[in-house]
Amino acid sequence: MAKDLLTDADDSSETQGQKPPFQTPKGVHDILPKDHEYHTFIKKVVRHRCRQAGFRRITTPMFEFTDVFARSIGATSDIVSKEMYTFEDKKGRSLTLKPESTAGVVRAYIQNGMQSMPQPVALYYIEPHFRYDRPQKGRYRQFWQFGFEVIGESDPAIDAQLIYLAWKILDDLGIAQLFSIQLNNIGCAQCRPAYTQVLKDFYYGKERSLCYNCKDRLEKNPLRLLDCKEEDCQILAQIAPKLTDYLCEDCKAFDRDVKEFLEEMKIDYKDNPSLVRGLDYYTKTVFEFWDKTDGAQNAIGGGGRYDGLVELMGGQPTAASGFAAGMDRIIANMKREKIKVPQKDDLHVFVAQLGQEAKKRCLPLIADLRDAGIKTMGALGKGSIKTQLRMADKFNVPYTIILGLTEVREGTAIIRDMKVGSQKTVPFEDAVEEMVALIGEDDLDLYSPGEAVY
Ligand code: HAM
Repeated sequence: MAKDLLTDADDSSETQGQKPPFQTPKGVHDILPKDHEYHTFIKKVVRHRCRQAGFRRITTPMFEFTDVFARSIGATSDIVSKEMYTFEDKKGRSLTLKPESTAGVVRAYIQNGMQSMPQPVALYYIEPHFRYDRPQKGRYRQFWQFGFEVIGESDPAIDAQLIYLAWKILDDLGIAQLFSIQLNNIGCAQCRPAYTQVLKDFYYGKERSLCYNCKDRLEKNPLRLLDCKEEDCQILAQIAPKLTDYLCEDCKAFDRDVKEFLEEMKIDYKDNPSLVRGLDYYTKTVFEFWDKTDGAQNAIGGGGRYDGLVELMGGQPTAASGFAAGMDRIIANMKREKIKVPQKDDLHVFVAQLGQEAKKRCLPLIADLRDAGIKTMGALGKGSIKTQLRMADKFNVPYTIILGLTEVREGTAIIRDMKVGSQKTVPFEDAVEEMVALIGEDDLDLYSPGEAVY
């Protein structure tokens, strides 16, 4: 069985004997066919729920000018200061592989004049992203996110609806019960500066108890002191002044409304005054989906409101809110929960042939079978019928069509039921029809543009 590259992505294959000369770089992995079954399923669920909620899909480029991320996510954030894949193009311009999509979506909203569309503009994406993180389980250097952004509406009902949509998707995927929704309000441009000063004053004189990173954060990004994972920093964060006590009336009312709406929709959440998120663009609502056993360590997703970002990126003042979830982590959870996903890859029929004439007749037969919705594999090599039947067995097909010298001469084909071991001879021109009847209309794989999945 193929190695599970999602859970063992960074396991070296040295233990399995000679290492092949070419390996993926550390922290990235192939998505093998088995894992694509999960990807396809997740994409279908996301598309379905987003479509129902009026979202349209957007894809921003894999790389942007570095400033798009540096300006929006914040120069002192971990993502910008340590985790970006930044390179220069041939003209010396600084470009970066996207570490997240919100910045690019906001850039696209402004650049493409979406402010003149009916507001709010609701967009979703399903994309790979890149962060130079320290690779470990659930933390990769190329990882997939789906996410959604609602730009152009400041009502707290939007935040509650986004949380509900995220929960609904996780519920469809069978894993919502594994996560708790952590919720906080981190204030706005009016009330946060005063709180930041209070927080700094609290930490001044206690620098010796802070970890190396937090000493640095104290001046550059004091809010981040609250969600440091180091034990000593956490102890201090527990007794630090609470942002909730410094929120302006507007933020307090906003927070109350979000919670009321969530309660109305029967969504459980946990008040978490230490939750600040690692990206600088947030205002008011922030939330994360935490693993009920691991806590913040392997959050499956997070998001929040970012009312200042459109303006910061050069657009008109525009309220916005969004969420993104990590698909690699979702898949690992689905596998752990033994959640089976539907897959349509199993073949229906194997076509075996003997001789040049039979091979010639097989080619249009295979094409016709496929057009009729029958998933068909043809053994077009030179093996004996016996070898080809062995192959058919390995592919686990329910039926094999055999075309030998006699069948070509008599204008017939043999259909073999691989499970029962019986076979019957049918007129060659009836072979497709016979197969359709055997497989059944419901199981045919007929292309319908309305169902295309990417
Ligand atoms: P984020 O919390 O940085 O938020 O990422 C969202 C999710 O992406 C995480 O909860 C995690 O599941 C997954 N993720 C992040 N880094 C990695 C990694 N190295 N390996 C595997 N999975 C990872 C954002 O990206 C914001 N743009 C979300 C947002 C959208 N806020 C507003 N709109």
